[in-house]
Amino acid sequence: MLNVSVLGYGTVGSGVVEVLTTNKESIAKKAGQEINVKYILDLRDFPGDPHEDKVVHDFNVILNDEDVQIVVETMGGVKPAYDFVKACLEAGKSVCTSNKELVAKHGAELIAIAKEKSINFFFEASVGGGIPIIRPMINCLNGDEIEEISGILNGTTNYILTKMSKEGLDFDSVLKDAQDKGYAERNPEADVEGYDACRKIAILTSLAYGKQVDFEDIYTEGITKITDVDIKYANALGAAIKIFGSSKKVGNDIYAKVAPVMINGEHPLYSVNDVFNGIFVKGNMVGDLMFYGSGAGKLPTASAVVADVVEAAKSLNANLPMIWENDKLQLADIKEAKQRFFVRLSGNAAENAAKVESTFGKVQVVEAGVENEYAFITDQVKEGEFAQKAEQLGNVVSRIRVDF
Ligand code: HSE
Repeated sequence: MLNVSVLGYGTVGSGVVEVLTTNKESIAKKAGQEINVKYILDLRDFPGDPHEDKVVHDFNVILNDEDVQIVVETMGGVKPAYDFVKACLEAGKSVCTSNKELVAKHGAELIAIAKEKSINFFFEASVGGGIPIIRPMINCLNGDEIEEISGILNGTTNYILTKMSKEGLDFDSVLKDAQDKGYAERNPEADVEGYDACRKIAILTSLAYGKQVDFEDIYTEGITKITDVDIKYANALGAAIKIFGSSKKVGNDIYAKVAPVMINGEHPLYSVNDVFNGIFVKGNMVGDLMFYGSGAGKLPTASAVVADVVEAAKSLNANLPMIWENDKLQLADIKEAKQRFFVRLSGNAAENAAKVESTFGKVQVVEAGVENEYAFITDQVKEGEFAQKAEQLGNVVSRIRVDF
């Protein structure tokens, strides 16, 4: 029998205990031995919970118990999760975490400690919830060089954008609905401002190129400025507005960003709707790959954590190598990235057409029956150049990147 302990008995932590309990027998077969939850660390007590006797409040009980070989970290946030996880790894316990903030910030260091101690630090659930994406990146794509990762990496914002698109509603009322349904946090900033997707694309990009991508370096734009009028134009174009976390290799440069983007029906992520996540990966040998499923939620996320626990149980005292070195990956300047832009200007065609053509050359005009506006899509233009030209025009109502 192998003892695990769970740090944090919230949504995901309680899901991990539920998965380990519900699928106990099949998990034991796959792991080669029974997996027992010995302790659950939380500040709270859980009277009436079937596992209440396992709850402890002192982390040292777990750290100092040599019978605990695997620790699950589902607390979230960097503090104190980082100190706890590092201490567990240094004490020779493998760690499986769902914590994207922790992995994005300290992944390289924690992977190095696990390697030195011949144990494992796994984090399948940190990106895409229940979708297998980390292990495919580490194990299945070693024959390839990764050319692109584009992901709908946040369920809350995908739900909001899908509902705005299908029901023609504005951002604020859909956000409120998402909060009432429990999809969006009361403080939804990390989701709607793109910070959550930023951590996730930082992790995927670090794994793709084997070096530390600092999430602070990633250009990040959320969905708070997307309006129902933008959606009306997207619908007129037969397009959808999604928020992508993406990284692309162009020559020797790697560009990464989080931003809303218009895609049309030909894009493999077009049909990824509601709270689902989808991740498109392009390898230089394998070509296009798609990963799709539940990117959040108690049991999908717990499923991925438990898969890590099984993997850790199968490889006790043997580090499964993954390349994510501490050296910083220098991202290319986003201003140099080429992109098409959808642009809305105030004023009618007579007021705008000539100055738009002299600024951007020939453009694709977009009609959606919106009065006193002139909307168009540019050809490919460098981000920095576009920003200058948009400022010159002086009457931009909104602009959204276009990926078709
Ligand atoms: N808030 C996140 C989302 C949870 O909506 O996708 C999963 O990381």
